[in-house]
Amino acid sequence: MNLAKRLQLIKPSPTLMVTAQVAALRRQGIEVIDFGAGEPDFDTPEHIKAAAVTALRQGKTKYTSVGGTAELKEAIITKLHRDNGLTYGLQEVTANCGGKHTLFNAFHALFDKGDEVLIPAPYWVSYSDMVILAGGQPKLLLTSEETGFKITAAQLRAAIGPQSKALLLNSPSNPTGAAYSEEELRQIAEVIEQSTLLVISDDVYEKFLYDSPRCAHLLALKPHLRDRVLIVNSVSKTYAMTGWRLGYAAGPREVIAAIETLQSQSTSNPNSIAQAAAVVGRGCGRCQGFSARCPKARFTCFRVCRRTLAADGRTKPSQRRWTFHSICCKRLRWRWWLAKGSARPTTYAFLTPRRCRTWSRGSTRSRRH
Ligand SMILES: Cc1ncc(COP(=O)(O)O)c(C=O)c1O
Repeated sequence: MNLAKRLQLIKPSPTLMVTAQVAALRRQGIEVIDFGAGEPDFDTPEHIKAAAVTALRQGKTKYTSVGGTAELKEAIITKLHRDNGLTYGLQEVTANCGGKHTLFNAFHALFDKGDEVLIPAPYWVSYSDMVILAGGQPKLLLTSEETGFKITAAQLRAAIGPQSKALLLNSPSNPTGAAYSEEELRQIAEVIEQSTLLVISDDVYEKFLYDSPRCAHLLALKPHLRDRVLIVNSVSKTYAMTGWRLGYAAGPREVIAAIETLQSQSTSNPNSIAQAAAVVGRGCGRCQGFSARCPKARFTCFRVCRRTLAADGRTKPSQRRWTFHSICCKRLRWRWWLAKGSARPTTYAFLTPRRCRTWSRGSTRSRRH
């Protein structure tokens, strides 16, 4: 069978490989903190589940508008205003089948062959393949412990070339947990102002913060950039709704319209029950979400993840090949598994044989690391 050539450009999500590895280890009785898929270790709140049941009973089981119901769009608008201080209209927001789908749609709506997309690394594994599938060219901006695994304004300035179309900003970041401060964002925004770059702001981890109650947002600092910024978010992480598949975007009208055109020819609307639950269950509208300060959930392991990357001698990846094989960090006695053979950074599964429970309870011993 001759498959489409464009599929030869990408590989299956390595997250699934790690998930399989983790399942195999668990079958052997090993306790594992699975950093493969980014999932909170708590369940969807009961009031959201109840809202889904109500929606089912009310017969909200039919097609909706492609980009989501008006109620959901209102809830998204309310959320953006409340949490981020941003004002959007109904035609400037759209809902999709998960944040990943939002990104997928956005990349196809925005990128043409040869367009360069600047991606700070380490980064979430799917970005680069999705950019490639859309015809774009990922350009990795490598970061290090010295900069807290964040890009600097100078680094961004130096990376921008004639083909550079967009910057992918993920703060807080998967996998390092690095979150940009207001000052850092301001400096980055100044470089963006002097360029023609678009920014895709992936905010899916905005509620996963260690020390501050709020994550700085580029657009809150520089509102006049709104014509060049597409916000991507999702109910997956904040409300532990990864399986419900509901993501959303906010940005310039024409980009939102393009995303909806594309979506109208693929998935149509996102799941109607998930939409209703996000509104009635206050998932998007009012739920405060989740914010971890000290070890409470496995996402807080990102702090350790940063140190581990720094502690390990192999943290200076070459752009050509960045492949770690089952790194053993003696200091933490934690082993990291990264999928093998990839030309690009891939994802982590955290193995803590014997120590998983200690860590998730947040004992002083674990915290010391
Ligand atoms: C950085 C980042 N962005 C977006 C997503 C997409 O999440 P979802 O499709 O569940 O909304 C993920 C999922 O792991 C992620 O890690």
